[in-house]
Amino acid sequence: MTENRSSFTGKLGFVLAAAGSAVGLGNIWRFPYLAAKYGGGIFLLVYIILTVTFGFALMMAEIAIGRKTGLSAIGAFQKLNKKYSFIGYLAAIVPAIILPYYSVIGGWVVKYLYTFLIGQTSMAAQDAFFGSFISQTAEPIVWFMIFIGATALIVLCGVEKGVEKVSKIMMPVLVVLSLFIAIYSVCMPGAMAGVKYYFLPDFSKFSVTTVLAAMGQLFYSMSLAMGIMITYGSYMKKEVSLESSVTQIELFDTGIAICAGLMIIPAVFVFSGGTPEALGAGPSLMFVTLPKVFETMVGGTFIGVMFFLLVLFAALTSSISLMETVVSIVCDKFKLSRKLSCLVVFVFSVAVGLLSLLGYGIWDHIKILGMQFLDFFDFISNSVLMPIVAFLTSIFVGYVIKPQTIIEEAELYNKFRRKHLFSFVIKYLAPICIVLILVSSVLSAFGLLTI
Ligand code: PHE
Repeated sequence: MTENRSSFTGKLGFVLAAAGSAVGLGNIWRFPYLAAKYGGGIFLLVYIILTVTFGFALMMAEIAIGRKTGLSAIGAFQKLNKKYSFIGYLAAIVPAIILPYYSVIGGWVVKYLYTFLIGQTSMAAQDAFFGSFISQTAEPIVWFMIFIGATALIVLCGVEKGVEKVSKIMMPVLVVLSLFIAIYSVCMPGAMAGVKYYFLPDFSKFSVTTVLAAMGQLFYSMSLAMGIMITYGSYMKKEVSLESSVTQIELFDTGIAICAGLMIIPAVFVFSGGTPEALGAGPSLMFVTLPKVFETMVGGTFIGVMFFLLVLFAALTSSISLMETVVSIVCDKFKLSRKLSCLVVFVFSVAVGLLSLLGYGIWDHIKILGMQFLDFFDFISNSVLMPIVAFLTSIFVGYVIKPQTIIEEAELYNKFRRKHLFSFVIKYLAPICIVLILVSSVLSAFGLLTI
């Protein structure tokens, strides 16, 4: 398998595909409302500091592990040290859990894009629209199948002809759309109050929970701790610089997140007459509040189409990375052909996705730990498994294979300028911070802490 492993053609292909994975629903929908909730500028500041330390070190480690071994998560840990292959198994479970429910939400996005495309803006803006749509059976299934079907087709085409090609088209379009909508939103009369609220730090809102929330978001946003970057690293050529690739991926991810705040916060401010409460809507911000905002905007239907197209591209490049990771693990582990692995992963994801989907409709009486299926899968993957995998990865790199192994991989053809920062973060800062995230997210899930 390893000898004729496919690869990205060059640095650009790799960076765009990895950035495609990182930029997703998390950037566009979750980041703005967290920033608004945790004191605007202060959240941004904390987030950026964490990105260049914590995020940088973990992403370097994962990509280097993948490139060094030329294998996806399970094989990679096994090859580096047999005793620790369980970390690879744990990491592999995460994308397999996320892909199905991520595709359910992807299906909702396609539905909204369609609704705006056919001009039914005022219908999408009604209070009951979202709730009544997701509680149906047949319609959400159709949109879900379209989204996951498209993902599977792209992955089936392979790394170079599928993943890389699609990223090279979608990512530039995504940047242009983001800038366009952000500028439009900032230029609306009355928008400046929102911009100020977003950028000016409110120090009174700073607390430990600000840091924890920023850290949790960072993980998810950079697609860390789930084997994705290991897999993508395994397709990376040796002469490409790891350090500058990681810097570029981070710039992309953070840039789009900040832009998304500029699209959403001023617009919601204008819509709600200067009160930030509407931003606190959480998950319903994108599907309930924003359509209302678009309805009141000049040219709102057009902006709505552009916005949901942007979200669709962001979600699609992320779901591709999830499926690619699972497919590559199945290929490597069970020595199956790529086609057969795709089929297996597709059938599994449809079956598990239906649980999450029907959990809002005919199966809404079924609860696990008091949560609906979708929330439960989200909780297990993001709040429990990801911090555990990240913790084990940093211990593994810091104390088992030692930071030097990663540094050597990074320095094969290029210089690694921030190697001291890297070693320090991976050995000391990362393990401590991650334990804090894990404890706080489990406590908050059970209502013992409010984040
Ligand atoms: N990083 C993506 C985002 O910000 C989310 C994601 C999570 C993508 C897991 C792939 C895997 O939305």
